[in-house]
Amino acid sequence: MANSGSVSITTREEAVELIEAVHADVVAVGRAAIANPDLVERWQGEHVENAPRPALFYTSGAEGYTDYPFLQGEQK
Ligand SMILES: Cc1cc2nc3c(=O)[nH]c(=O)nc-3n(C[C@H](O)[C@H](O)[C@H](O)COP(=O)(O)O)c2cc1C
Repeated sequence: MANSGSVSITTREEAVELIEAVHADVVAVGRAAIANPDLVERWQGEHVENAPRPALFYTSGAEGYTDYPFLQGEQK
């Protein structure tokens, strides 16, 4: 399992590159996964993504973890 670190947010393209370069069998995805409850669908369809809200990272409540919108109702 690989991840390129926290300097920039892992993108679909970066994850594919890591797999194709045989650097990893799987890629850990942090911020994009937190901000997009349907990230797999978004990456499969190359849909727009919600932007993460870093101010809510590592906070104790559900806000910033369970309130990002799904694709339904958004531009696809
Ligand atoms: C809010 C938050 C919580 C995280 N918690 C963990 C954790 O519990 N364990 C872990 O190994 N990495 C954790 N990470 C790091 C991610 O797994 C990942 O390595 C890092 O966010 C960089 O990848 P990204 O560009 O996909 O966000 C966390 C990251 C964020 C933003």
